[in-house]
Amino acid sequence: MRVDRPARVAIIGSGNVTHLYLTGTAMFPSVELAACADLDPERARALAAKGGFRASTVDEILVDPTIDVVLVLTPPAAHAPVSMAAIAAGKQVYTEKPLATSRADAQRVLEAAAEAGVRVGAAPDTFLGGGLQTARALIDEGRIGTPLVATAAVSYTGPERWHLDPRIFYGPGGGPVLDVGPYYVTALVNLLGPVQAVAAVGRGRGSERLVATGPLAGTTVTAEVPTTVIGTLTFESGVIGSLFASFDTAGSRAPHFEIHGTAGSLSIGDPNRFDGEVRFRAIGSETWEDVPLRFPSDVERGIGLADMVDAIRSDRAHRASGELAYHVLDVLLALEEATTTGRTETIASRVERPAPLEAGVTSSRRGS
Ligand SMILES: NC(=O)c1ccc[n+]([C@@H]2O[C@H](COP(=O)([O-])OP(=O)(O)OC[C@H]3O[C@@H](n4cnc5c(N)ncnc54)[C@H](O)[C@@H]3O)[C@@H](O)[C@H]2O)c1
Repeated sequence: MRVDRPARVAIIGSGNVTHLYLTGTAMFPSVELAACADLDPERARALAAKGGFRASTVDEILVDPTIDVVLVLTPPAAHAPVSMAAIAAGKQVYTEKPLATSRADAQRVLEAAAEAGVRVGAAPDTFLGGGLQTARALIDEGRIGTPLVATAAVSYTGPERWHLDPRIFYGPGGGPVLDVGPYYVTALVNLLGPVQAVAAVGRGRGSERLVATGPLAGTTVTAEVPTTVIGTLTFESGVIGSLFASFDTAGSRAPHFEIHGTAGSLSIGDPNRFDGEVRFRAIGSETWEDVPLRFPSDVERGIGLADMVDAIRSDRAHRASGELAYHVLDVLLALEEATTTGRTETIASRVERPAPLEAGVTSSRRGS
């Protein structure tokens, strides 16, 4: 990757999530969106017009020597094949979550990248936001003592309420566990280290979901994955945790994310956001204290990509890495599997916690 100009990034998959990447990457002068493609050329044209870059085709992007990074924003089932094609073309890859829809595909992507000498980065990167990085700093400083227990919960009615093609949310790689679980499990691993074992109960596989909007409105989608999973996680450190992930509620007031330790508790905002609030309560105290965020929370999706570009240039490990995404996928698939086996599933993969954020990547933001 040339160092005398921004990394040139081409988007493959020009759908719903791209608007977040347009604003998110615009914060980082080290990243330049240069082109986009889609199976539907009209979508690519519309995104190109909005973003001020070139509409292209997947094949053109892959052979274009001026493109450094392929940003994979297709539905989950295409993440692995598109990533593999990009790696074969010698591109660095950053993909939306999940890394792939199976362990075997995810492994193939990581092995191919290692062989080709290119990096794989993967969403989510919300753990690099001000809220979760402040929580990480507090835990590392010992503010809550030794972490003991974690709870994570996400629930809502389901994406068939708002997405134009909610079928992708109910096939492999979808469902609340694979779709929103990555934010929660990535945040947990970043704070507490790798997961060793999981157990779970679930419901909703085979259920029909009524689409509320878009061209498919009025039709139903059959869920191939559980629509609610209630899981337990045992971390290598001995911490135990729970994950409640559901598309079967009208809403919920359950706290999104809490970590409890020997000296106190942290209440943390939604790990699907960059700006979650952080509150601390010491054992014995009657009140929660608002903790000022120590890192910027006005970042967006794209900070993980900018960190990867910076990491390539400075020859260090990037934080939203393929290895982290693989471990998270391994945990999430095991949670789904545990709903049918009824067993405690051992997690074969492990990963070190990514380095905490320093001034580095966020101080390179525009306007910083
Ligand atoms: N929608 C969101 O708010 C949101 C938020 C966070 C993450 N994500 C993730 O982003 C990814 C994309 O989600 P979305 O909501 O933008 O989906 P989408 O269906 O709106 O867009 C995906 C686009 O990819 C195109 N596509 C599919 N296969 C392709 C291929 N092989 N080559 C080129 N283009 C291809 C489709 O034609 C479509 O235009 C998913 O992994 C999802 O989990 C979405």
